[in-house]
Amino acid sequence: MKILFYDTQNYDRESFDRTKEQFPEIEVEYLKTGLAARTASLAKGYDAVCAFVNSDVGTKTVEALHEAGVKLILMRCAGFNNVDLKTAAKYGIDVRRVPGYSPEAVAEHAMTLAMTVNRHMHKAYTKVRENDFSLGGLMGFNFYQKTAGIVGTGKIGAAMARICRGFGMKVIAYDVYQNESLKDFVTYVTLDELLAQSDLISLHCPLMDSTYHMINRESIKKMKDGVILVNTSRGGLVKTDDLIEGIRARKFFGVGLDVYEEETPNVFEDRSDEILEHSTTARLLSFPNVMITSHQGFFTEEALRAIAETTLQNALDFEAGKETPNIVRA
Ligand code: NAI
Repeated sequence: MKILFYDTQNYDRESFDRTKEQFPEIEVEYLKTGLAARTASLAKGYDAVCAFVNSDVGTKTVEALHEAGVKLILMRCAGFNNVDLKTAAKYGIDVRRVPGYSPEAVAEHAMTLAMTVNRHMHKAYTKVRENDFSLGGLMGFNFYQKTAGIVGTGKIGAAMARICRGFGMKVIAYDVYQNESLKDFVTYVTLDELLAQSDLISLHCPLMDSTYHMINRESIKKMKDGVILVNTSRGGLVKTDDLIEGIRARKFFGVGLDVYEEETPNVFEDRSDEILEHSTTARLLSFPNVMITSHQGFFTEEALRAIAETTLQNALDFEAGKETPNIVRA
């Protein structure tokens, strides 16, 4: 089994090289190049490609992968909204992902973002470094006894719900399915009720047609004034222009984003010398109550190890013709 990795960062290589020793039957080659229609032909001679959240695995790319003879797309991440599953199915290309490598990694990051904007840690850090020991602009509020609204209670949402319970919060949730393991302390409500009651709203549902722009002008209007919104799921869940309008209208106490609509060209790139021409991200960053991180929710040692193990196991399972829950279908 020969796998060509695209969009490879040094830490990917390190963690996969470490894990590869347990999978001697697999040969891997790493490319820094992103997977896209024009680079897919590099995979000629490989059985599989391995891609990430920022890879372009759209229609043209999948067609080009098929022409190159690729039989398997290994997503080394949970999300697969960037993969054209229908075209993959049409060409008999199998797609496998890593559904739950470390839900706690992402949930802990979601709470980090919530706490950062609540207690203004981003400002406190720079203030004290400048010998400014005053407390102006640093007032937060207790999460204790406030209401956390979790949208999507799968693996990550459930982990976030447990963290919020640990903070002494009342936890409510909205999902199309109820998670039985949370029934002792989570109350399921409608999305409208969640928006109206929550002091902290954290998004953990996948990006699909039904969830695209679920946070928009109308849903923002339904939220409590002074709410904290956190998105560690996918940028497309939030309509950025409407979010900016809400921030300007002083709707939010704070907003924490690990993902945002414009992130694809930014993710894991150092663009510090560039002038970003038409950037809503720059507009978002201009607000003092907005904290943005660059899709780092997954980025812990434990998660990277689990991603490498599951991805390589997915490759072996494919070769053995094994059906597993990690297969993604249209
Ligand atoms: P999961 O599949 O375990 O849970 C997703 C939940 O969303 C399910 O319970 C599902 O029923 C629910 N859902 C589906 N449609 C819904 C809707 N219309 N409204 C409300 N809920 C709905 O997924 P998991 O592992 O918890 O991941 C959630 C998302 O987190 C992923 O889709 C991915 O986009 C994102 N993610 C972000 C990472 C980061 O580094 N920031 C890393 C890993 C995942």
